[in-house]
Amino acid sequence: MEKTFAIVKPDAFAAGNAGKIIARIYAEGFKLVGLKKLYMSKVEAEGFYYVHKERPFFGELTDFMSSGPCVVMVLEAEGAIKKWRDLMGATNPAEAAEGTMRKEFGTSIGENATHGSDAPETAAFEIPYFFSGLELL
Ligand code: RTP
Ligand code: MG
Repeated sequence: MEKTFAIVKPDAFAAGNAGKIIARIYAEGFKLVGLKKLYMSKVEAEGFYYVHKERPFFGELTDFMSSGPCVVMVLEAEGAIKKWRDLMGATNPAEAAEGTMRKEFGTSIGENATHGSDAPETAAFEIPYFFSGLELL
């Protein structure tokens, strides 16, 4: 079984879509092994997305991620990383396939409703960034 890290981003949380996204996670057969609501600071968002620190959208991205509360989660399934990326859809909601989270709940490339780890090394950094071992029992 593989674990991945997921976020209901501030846009989707503020719009009241966290419940629908979590229901879909269960419906697709993931086990929810970690879950909490938090309000990231700018510094915490910068640390989380440090791989993008040289990108032109880094300021906008970290402002957005620290603009309101979100829900952070650890999901477990066979092939969880790809399975959640597939369910999220393309980064830009306008290009995301029908039935994906970003198509249903995203509004722009910045406000795209969800995050998911993109590789095992990424999940290995992102999960312990937000969760202690005790929170994943
Ligand atoms: P995420 O990390 O949030 O799951 O998104 P992703 O893997 O699909 O996309 P990534 O390349 O990691 O980019 C992280 C977030 O930055 C914003 N972004 N804006 N304005 C732009 O061209 C641009 N490109 C990326 C998106 O909100 C994306 O989710
Ligand atoms: Mg990414």
